Amino acid sequence: MKKRVALITGAMGGLGTALCRRLHADGFTVIATHSPGNTTREGWLAARRDEGVTVRACELDVSNGNACDAVVRRLLEEVGAIDVLVNNAGITRDRSLRKMSAEDWHAVLGTNLDSVFNMTRPVLETMTGRGWGRIINISSVNGQRGAFGQCNYAAAKAGMHGFTKSLALEVARHGVTVNTVSPGYLDTSMVRHMPQEVLRDRILPQIPVGRLGKPEEVAGLVAFLASEAGGYVTGANIAMNGGQHMY
Ligand code: CAA
Repeated sequence: MKKRVALITGAMGGLGTALCRRLHADGFTVIATHSPGNTTREGWLAARRDEGVTVRACELDVSNGNACDAVVRRLLEEVGAIDVLVNNAGITRDRSLRKMSAEDWHAVLGTNLDSVFNMTRPVLETMTGRGWGRIINISSVNGQRGAFGQCNYAAAKAGMHGFTKSLALEVARHGVTVNTVSPGYLDTSMVRHMPQEVLRDRILPQIPVGRLGKPEEVAGLVAFLASEAGGYVTGANIAMNGGQHMY
């Protein structure tokens, strides 16, 4: 059988890297997009080569709809199909609302939510036309609960799931599933960059499991949703947050 193709946005971050490794291990051809000007690209690609993980890298500003249309069109010509799309690209600009600029708002909404529209629309027809596809939107516990300093991020992440449920209805009869995965605080650079006293004193005490999540744990869930076995899960928002939603 021809290898399936998985496209992962924001693929060179902590969770993105785990997603690339796992989907490659599961037999997918993996395409990894990264933001323009990402200076870690070559080192990241070399590290994947050393591990035997073959990845096709692609520079893309996911907040730019025209750029997404053009890149997806080019990729479809090169690889024939995109079977799995993981909308993983995301940024934070954490500030209380009274200090948040319009630029902080638009940057986060553009990268975290507009990107889902920008990427999904051009791949969708190839999925529905072939009768098989998986769209997996990486949201956050903070889209479900809200978080101090994250009006922009939480709004974008909550918005993703509205998108998921609506599109899931539209394509359910065409073999395409659409799901949201909402991780909690993972051991990634995004979390390492937040104020460590906030993490230690406010966040960790609210995680019943008592530790940060591992990107590999989330990648395992995404791999299931991307598999044949995941075909009856659609429109779901699956939380993986160490029990944080009980607080
Ligand atoms: N709960 C309650 N009070 C808090 C608070 C919290 N979580 N965080 C800060 N405060 C308090 C401060 O103690 C301070 O109080 P005092 O004035 O009495 O000293 C006050 O709020 C600060 O208010 P400001 O309006 O000045 O806040 P700020 O604009 O400086 O923002 C912050 C502070 C940037 C939001 C900082 O608290 C922060 O970075 N918090 C972490 C936000 C967060 O959880 N980010 C998650 C990043 S990881 C991620 O997003 C991945 C994922 O999906 C889970």
